[in-house]
Amino acid sequence: MERTLIIIKPDAVQRGLTGEIIKRFEQRGLKIIGMKLLRVSRDLAEKHYDVHRERPFFAGLVAYIISAPVVVMALEGSDAVVAARTTIGATKPSEAAAGTIRGDYGLEIGRNLVHGSDSVENGEIEIANFFAESELCGGWARAVDGWVFE
Ligand code: RTP
Ligand code: MG
Repeated sequence: MERTLIIIKPDAVQRGLTGEIIKRFEQRGLKIIGMKLLRVSRDLAEKHYDVHRERPFFAGLVAYIISAPVVVMALEGSDAVVAARTTIGATKPSEAAAGTIRGDYGLEIGRNLVHGSDSVENGEIEIANFFAESELCGGWARAVDGWVFE
């Protein structure tokens, strides 16, 4: 089973889309193994987006992610990384397919509602950055598991 970190970004929380977004991942079959609301610190935001440090949008991106509370989720499932990113949609919401979160609720790249890890390795790293091991319920037995996982 893979793990991926989802961040429901400040714009989505402010717009009251938290429940709708959680619902889409749950309905997909991905298992929530950790979830909390928090205000991201500048240090954590800069660490999370370190790969973009030299990009012109970095300062704005960090300011956006620390501007209001976010909801973070650790999700577990087969192909969880790709499945979550498919549900999220393309980075630029104006080009994201209808039916994806960004395609249904967003317009601009700087207000694109959700983050999803881009690789299995980064999923593990990002979950460890946002959650203590004691905050995770990895591998808990969900009643419907046999109807989602073959
Ligand atoms: P994310 O990391 O948030 O899941 O998004 P992503 O993989 O689809 O996109 P990525 O290339 O990792 O970019 C991270 C976030 O930076 C902001 N961004 N702004 N103004 C710009 O040109 C620009 N490019 C990227 C977006 O918020 C994007 O989600
Ligand atoms: Mg990314």
